[in-house]
Amino acid sequence: MVASARTAIIARTAALAVFATLGVPPAAVAQTEAEAAAASVDDARLRAADSEPDQWMSHGRTWSEQRYSSLDQINTATVGGLGLAWNYETGTTRGMESTPLVIDGVMYATGAWSKVYALDAATGKELWTYDPKVPGAKARDACCDVVNRGVAAWKGRLYLGALDGRLICLDAATGKPLWEKQTTDPARAYTITGAPRVVKDKVIIGNGGAEFGVRGYFSAYDATSGDMLWRFYTVPASTQGPFENPELEIAAKTWSSRSMWDTGLGGTVWDSISYDPELDLLYVGVGNASGYNRELRSPGGGDNLFVASILAVDPDDGRMAWYYQTVPGESWDYTATQHMILADIEISGAPRKVLMQAPKNGFFYVLDRGTGELLSAEPYVAVSWATRVDKKTGRPVERPQAVWSQEPARVTPGIPGGHNWHPMAFSPQTGLVYIPTFESLYEYSPDQAFEWRRGYFNTGEDLDAVAAKVEGFEEFARYNTRTHLTAWDPVAGAQRWHVDLGQGIPAGVLATAGGLVFQGTTDGRLVAYDATGGATLWQTSTGTGIMAPPISYRIGNEQYVAVVAGLGGSQGGHFTRITNANRGRIVAFKLGGNAMMPVTEQKPVLAVEAPPMQASVETLARGRALYSSHCARCHGVGVVSSGLYPDLRYSSAGVHTIFPRIVGDGLMAERGMAPFSDVLGNDDIDAIHAYVTQRARHQTGWVEWLAAKLAGRLRIPASWLAN
Ligand code: HEC
Repeated sequence: MVASARTAIIARTAALAVFATLGVPPAAVAQTEAEAAAASVDDARLRAADSEPDQWMSHGRTWSEQRYSSLDQINTATVGGLGLAWNYETGTTRGMESTPLVIDGVMYATGAWSKVYALDAATGKELWTYDPKVPGAKARDACCDVVNRGVAAWKGRLYLGALDGRLICLDAATGKPLWEKQTTDPARAYTITGAPRVVKDKVIIGNGGAEFGVRGYFSAYDATSGDMLWRFYTVPASTQGPFENPELEIAAKTWSSRSMWDTGLGGTVWDSISYDPELDLLYVGVGNASGYNRELRSPGGGDNLFVASILAVDPDDGRMAWYYQTVPGESWDYTATQHMILADIEISGAPRKVLMQAPKNGFFYVLDRGTGELLSAEPYVAVSWATRVDKKTGRPVERPQAVWSQEPARVTPGIPGGHNWHPMAFSPQTGLVYIPTFESLYEYSPDQAFEWRRGYFNTGEDLDAVAAKVEGFEEFARYNTRTHLTAWDPVAGAQRWHVDLGQGIPAGVLATAGGLVFQGTTDGRLVAYDATGGATLWQTSTGTGIMAPPISYRIGNEQYVAVVAGLGGSQGGHFTRITNANRGRIVAFKLGGNAMMPVTEQKPVLAVEAPPMQASVETLARGRALYSSHCARCHGVGVVSSGLYPDLRYSSAGVHTIFPRIVGDGLMAERGMAPFSDVLGNDDIDAIHAYVTQRARHQTGWVEWLAAKLAGRLRIPASWLAN
């Protein structure tokens, strides 16, 4: 699956169709000298980032995205003395996924709803905040919450990808917007949650939305003017062209002419980007296709390039140097958007410049990052869809049992993947990669009548069948997930140790030269592990569940470890009940820190108040089907929610009286509950209400009891596993 395609540049005028610039006049605000000193990061400084361990200047600390800090004041011997230095409350209660930057004593973090916070990194004192005012109803276009993973900094400016598709340039000293560009078509369900990266005065940004049906691409914008310089579409718009970028000629040959073109075909670039300044190659991870099931999406087959691929491109013009497709003809939502780490390691006695990725499909890939050559691919979690990856062809050897084009199939990893967006870390000290892993399995059920419909969740799955399974007592257990912290030896292709974290949401990882690995937990702890053996050396409660990756920096003589707390993300299948108020906060720790962590209040215990409702069996069935396709991804499959979004079984009597107005008219739109009147009639809403009411009145107590009993008790049958 390796190809070389430094082909001639085809006229790209069509690709350069720039969406209208919104309101803000370009570069209107003049910078004073003092202001220009903020976030003064440039090419030279980022190239030499390893010589400035005090800073965290780009998303993965350096362009290689190792997430390794060479600071060692906090180490295996001293970590016991770690205490809270400061705490900052963001005032939000939704998912927090950001990696803060720390540049010359100032922290720049993002939070829910694409808000930006600039804080004094030594004290947590707020310097400024910026709210791009994303419309609340836009939340409906996000598969996985109104999250944001961070800003990029460059020459006194910050770059933010807002949920509604805007790329916004801020003055780093004041937080005032300098320009903004709409990078997506607002009429489609595009979102941005990933952090932009800046290389060579170009801001690189992708987007998400494949679950709803969009066409994936990533683009480069001029860091100063905001003009778009190039755009790379990852999937063709037809087999006949237009080929906006020349690589699409290669891609078009791998799609059926009867492909579901109107879905946009997906291939979104929603998270990982890394850069090697010596090779001058930009690496981009591409996501799943729109319409998960290849047989429905591209009837008759094909590899469907460039979905689930890693692309290496020239940052100057966006031309591709090589690609590697992890899952040809991808059918299981196995994105290759997961974090990519660049490192120089010794393989078979020879130093190699590698790129490492643990994509959702469960194999840990080591590629030569100059050529895309596959060096190894070993399963880092249980894998049932393929027995192995063939080293010669670079292709997986798939198991026929995993195909779900006609009949449902149970597969591991499931939809959450073996590893998702939660960043991993590489320690050159131990040579290990620390991966936040998931054990999950899922029954993929085809919707044979699938057609793309605007405003729908367009995965091509029979989501009602999934709900039916979850409602069944026995099956419930199967959909539990289990999280681990896995220490992986990329040279041997083998696990060295792992920590079992039970049921919950994984969290990003930081490795340090102090011999430590830091990771948060769903129950709100920040934990320091011994990087060599995995023993827990220190832990503290932050009061709020953590998914985001910690960072480390130094101010004066003091090393800090900081992390953003707040649970959220994809909510369809999280049955662990979150009982605290999920207060968004940014916390920083140092040796001898003695600040007090505020207490996070618990949510009140709720009672069922749903009034009785008469409904026929047919109405209830229709209600479940509609709920499954429109509501389950936020309010929980089978109306069982983690509590991060309201569990509709416990809505108040008052809410039940205005249920149609909330769902149809958008009474709560500004709070993230968009109206659905474009896809649901009054009858439909009544049917959903009847189903929710039935679940509330008849299916409450035992579900909670069972969820608690089975917490994290995932069992994958041995017969499923590879080899
Ligand atoms: C993109 C996520 C999302 C989707 C999809 C979604 N909701 Fe919501 N919903 C929310 C959020 C967020 C709230 C809470 C707003 C608040 O109070 O802050 C909410 C609140 C509600 C409430 C009020 C609950 C209470 O007890 O206060 C009802 C009723 C509701 N949603 C019904 C539905 C129905 C029915 C569907 C499917 C047609 C649906 N929602 C789809 C996010 C979503």
